[in-house]
Amino acid sequence: MLFNRSLTTLFAAVLFCSSVFAQGSRAASGQAKPISPDLFGIFFEDISYAADGGLYAELVQNRSFEYTPNDRRGWHSLTGWEYVTEGYGYGMLDVETSSPLHPNNPHYIVLKVEEPGQQGIGVSNTGYDGIYVRKGERYDFSLFARVLNGEAIPLVISLRGAKGEVYGEAAIRAEGDGWKKYTATVTAGSTDTAARLVVLAKGKGTLAMDVISLFPEKTFRNRPNGLRNDLAEKIAELHPKFMRFPGGCLVHGDGLGNMYRWKNTIGPVEQRVEQRDIWNYHQTAGLGYFEYFQFCEDIGAKPLPIVAAGVSCQNSGGTWRIGSTGQKGFSMEEMQEYIQEVLDLIEYANGSPTSTWGAKRAASGHPAPFGLQYIGIGNEDKQTDVFRDRFKMLYEAVKAKHPEITVVGTVGPSPAGEDYNLGWKFAGELGVPVVDEHYYEKPEWFLTHNKRYDSYDRARPKVYVGEYASWGNALFNALAEAAYMTGLERNGDLVRMASYAPLLANQHHTSWNPNLIYFTNTAILPTVNYYVQQLFSVNSGDWYYSNAVAFRSTKAGADTLLAASCVKDSKSGDIILKIVNAGNEPEDAFVHLKGLGALQSQAELYVLTGARDGKNSFEEPALIAPARSALVVKGSFSYNAPPYSLSVIRVHAKK
Ligand code: AHR
Repeated sequence: MLFNRSLTTLFAAVLFCSSVFAQGSRAASGQAKPISPDLFGIFFEDISYAADGGLYAELVQNRSFEYTPNDRRGWHSLTGWEYVTEGYGYGMLDVETSSPLHPNNPHYIVLKVEEPGQQGIGVSNTGYDGIYVRKGERYDFSLFARVLNGEAIPLVISLRGAKGEVYGEAAIRAEGDGWKKYTATVTAGSTDTAARLVVLAKGKGTLAMDVISLFPEKTFRNRPNGLRNDLAEKIAELHPKFMRFPGGCLVHGDGLGNMYRWKNTIGPVEQRVEQRDIWNYHQTAGLGYFEYFQFCEDIGAKPLPIVAAGVSCQNSGGTWRIGSTGQKGFSMEEMQEYIQEVLDLIEYANGSPTSTWGAKRAASGHPAPFGLQYIGIGNEDKQTDVFRDRFKMLYEAVKAKHPEITVVGTVGPSPAGEDYNLGWKFAGELGVPVVDEHYYEKPEWFLTHNKRYDSYDRARPKVYVGEYASWGNALFNALAEAAYMTGLERNGDLVRMASYAPLLANQHHTSWNPNLIYFTNTAILPTVNYYVQQLFSVNSGDWYYSNAVAFRSTKAGADTLLAASCVKDSKSGDIILKIVNAGNEPEDAFVHLKGLGALQSQAELYVLTGARDGKNSFEEPALIAPARSALVVKGSFSYNAPPYSLSVIRVHAKK
């Protein structure tokens, strides 16, 4: 073809012609730069009901009666519950704290059955916006109970519809004046998106009950106390290289008393410490550190726990404004204990099963270490002396005891400004290996900042782009992120990790927008941004090649609307091209693969395209999703990138 014959000449001209530009540095095609093996991962925070009422598969809301008005105005121990008397039964329902199941879990209910009537009396729970039950599926029920007065009390557990129709039931007998765990399995005979759980006592007496729980039998990888299968699968399909948890602002909390303390979140669920969620609801800690580590292992993601730097969020107390001063630090005495807590976390993850904290991991069913490599200290903290003193103590303690662990520091909430500058200076002085940058910006910002890391000093700490998103879930937003991600690949020697944020949001309880995945009890909405993340993660490489792709466009703004990268996955030998056209007209990308290994001519092509403002919705969750086809390629070829598109071309190595 005339076009192909002229390609070599064109490539020679690329670097000298102002209307033709290549992505990346001016190294010759074929010159490779290493890319971090952990580049694309996920950010998980219990925001917008991401954990409780989301990924954590518990179907009962407020199972331990620990809700309080501190969580949210109007909430109390019986939020989510109703007192039920049927068939002329009567009695009394109270909340008590005098003899709890465990001091960490002080509230429980006491049901006094004076007359059970024909049906019994008890309580019902509506879950998080109703309990979704599916015909033929089995549900694992459990509760802790004590008979305070009377003989053994028969209990009937049922799943019911709004009109009282019974979808399935099971029976247990509570007996003895000591807290005991009872379990039963209920099979649903019908599907209902808004069922409720009903527990009725059918004998006279007084009964204490706590931690009334219902899980689908089928959880992700069938783990007990597990995760909602469909949501966990959707996350697993991102093939993240790492997972950051548990936040976000949740980590440092709204005041020192609200900080996320990992030790409160392990062991038997009835002994965990529940607390107010900074995002105006309640954390059961049912999805705690053990479950986080387990999930990371299940999906092949390296765990990246973030611990507070001994200070609370600068916005504590509701002072959400620039320069707010709600930041409080632990006293120096408290810091000694807190430093040990952080060291203990490393032992919990990696220590031998005979060590104090490794034994606790083993007791939960995981004697093998979780292989922790990273730990983040701090989240977007204001760079004050209070922060700096505490960060330094923590950093030095971890470094001294665990030189094998890579510490990730923090440089404020924005891509520039005072905390960013001070944070970088401080991290550089201390020699922190990686720092965590955050930015939520307009799509135009991402398009015009594609070269942000090209000029970063390689002698300084590496970068973790721990939270980023453009403000929206339309295709144009996702393409701006895709274009930016080509820049992250190009700088994969410096940018060690990157995670879009936030990951999950319950559609009916969003505290933050946009998010990567929206869900309801019954459905999942992967945004267009989700598909961008997935295409990059699944098609990541370990070597970056400069100048393999060039554009020739004279249009205004073409240098920001067009972006591309070329990486090699050395395991398979495949070459992967990512070509972004965020403009409104088709554009030719000129690809030059010579010197990149022996490649097949049949390539896989994935194209994500649609209307600029197009979005996926619950009605049309795959309106904009990658379309796969075959593409014939040569050593040099041109690819016509559709308007508003991300194209991923995977060229397989010859076998
Ligand atoms: O991702 C949502 C929030 O944004 C995080 O909790 C916080 O770190 C950031 O400000």
